[in-house]
Amino acid sequence: VPADVRSLLTGLIHDVPDYPKPGVMFKDITPLLADAKAFSVLTDVLAGLAQRHGATKIVGLEARGFILGAPAAVRAGVGFVPVRKSGKLPGATLSQGYDLEYGSARIEVHSAGLAEGDRVLVIDDVLATGGTAEASVQLIRRTGAEVAGVAILLELGFLEGRERVERALAGAPLDAL
Ligand code: PRP
Repeated sequence: VPADVRSLLTGLIHDVPDYPKPGVMFKDITPLLADAKAFSVLTDVLAGLAQRHGATKIVGLEARGFILGAPAAVRAGVGFVPVRKSGKLPGATLSQGYDLEYGSARIEVHSAGLAEGDRVLVIDDVLATGGTAEASVQLIRRTGAEVAGVAILLELGFLEGRERVERALAGAPLDAL
């Protein structure tokens, strides 16, 4: 990403201390979404990655991955498939559990949403521990689809999620803007 685009985007992601709990610095992307130029530039970058990686589908991770992934899919001319938290999808699903710092979580995708022959770019806003992105890669592979890459707006480098996701990707690219 060119330096001017990077600083445009970074300047519109605001730090919110002690949210959702004391000691956590929340990264709020809503100022970026509210800026028509920045949101459009971000959409162009994500759509460009989808095209460069030969993606046939974009998967967005609930919830903010939906906001970023859906317009990128439209702009790239590919379909959008949601990966949701457990119990939200009406059709037959595949599901994948993963560990959180305290406890565990489960994500799901419609079994019919992806198939062999699909190449998927996974999009989300933030990479923290990498657990969500890692589980989504594993989940998508179980549909028979290939993961073309993972694209993240903001990587929290100090949490070392990258290593975990790259291991799951086994050579496919992890792009953090
Ligand atoms: C946040 C973020 C990523 C995930 C990253 O979502 O949007 O999806 O956490 O964390 P990880 O790398 O440690 O897995 P959250 O679980 O807060 O869900 P939401 O977007 O539905 O609020």
